[in-house]
Amino acid sequence: MKKDLDWSSLGFGYIATDYRYSSKFKDGAWDEGQLITDSMITLSECAGVFQYAQTIFEGLKAYSTKDGHIVCFRPDLNAARMADSAKRLEMPVFPEDRFVDAVCQVVKANQDWVPPYGSGATLYIRPYMMGTNPVIGVKPATEYEFRVFATPVGPYFKGGAKPIVIKVSDFDRAAPHGTGHIKAGLNYAMSLHAIVTAHEEGFAENMYLDPESRTKVEETGGANFIFITKDGTLVTPKSDSILPSITRRSIMYVAEKYLGMKVEHRPVYFDEVKDFAECGLCGTAAVISPVGRIVNHDTVIDIPAGMEEMGPWTKKLYDTLTGIQMGSIEAPEGWIKRIC
Ligand code: PLP
Ligand code: COI
Repeated sequence: MKKDLDWSSLGFGYIATDYRYSSKFKDGAWDEGQLITDSMITLSECAGVFQYAQTIFEGLKAYSTKDGHIVCFRPDLNAARMADSAKRLEMPVFPEDRFVDAVCQVVKANQDWVPPYGSGATLYIRPYMMGTNPVIGVKPATEYEFRVFATPVGPYFKGGAKPIVIKVSDFDRAAPHGTGHIKAGLNYAMSLHAIVTAHEEGFAENMYLDPESRTKVEETGGANFIFITKDGTLVTPKSDSILPSITRRSIMYVAEKYLGMKVEHRPVYFDEVKDFAECGLCGTAAVISPVGRIVNHDTVIDIPAGMEEMGPWTKKLYDTLTGIQMGSIEAPEGWIKRIC
């Protein structure tokens, strides 16, 4: 039976669900893994995760479909990206097929926590991995734990689909060189001061520029950018130091194949931003969140789509993407993994 939650008023927060998955790596091998009920983790004070932030994570969602199934969206791409993250931080790769299986096990075991179709909420799934044994010299751990938990969530930004106001960050994300394209704890920790500063000033998010020239648009703290030109072309920044968002890659495909839009994936200069007709943030948590205004100190860019609702192309992309995820629009081959 579904849990008794007020699904449509959920925000983006953590609620402990009943089951999580754990698999441990020791002596060069992963154990068989299992579902467990304990949400707590007890580790050595000297564990690699605490001393040198050897920790990586992923994020994806499970959806209730119109016809009563529970599915998740392209989990194989999260598995592949987590493998890339692991290699970059000298961690053992959790086999990609086992990653997908672990995600499915956690969703199935927690199916009473999957928000109903049409509630506006979804089940957010967080796979992660950390170095668990003591390391005091700067070197990788030799023992690891891979975990997956799930938590029901509502919209990432307060106000749901209302356009948000963001600022151009004066801070760089200061990711260690070359790690911007993976999802690692340290990258995100280095963005916390910038996000707290932005929130204190009343902004919903930061637009990060490339740290070298500060002329190109990178991404935000938790999502990639999409822009729409006045003639209906989708433009999205290409950079080696942003996360290769699965949502953004899916939107590029949807724009071209479902909506017949022209798609440009290329460096985007901040100077161009004032000329776009629509702007949005895209990601698993953000889905597609419209941006109405971008502030860079004294310069205020009002996106023509305005502060009341999503622009027309953003709305079409949003409806098509979420339609595919929730089963009302036919998905491209292999995008939807049915769990139960
Ligand atoms: N960029 C950052 C920094 C993120 O944290 C996320 C969220 O995972 C994204 C982009 C969007 O990626 P995805 O669409 O794979 O969720
Ligand atoms: C996601 O969209 O899955 C993210 O990781 C963004 C944020 C919650 C960190």
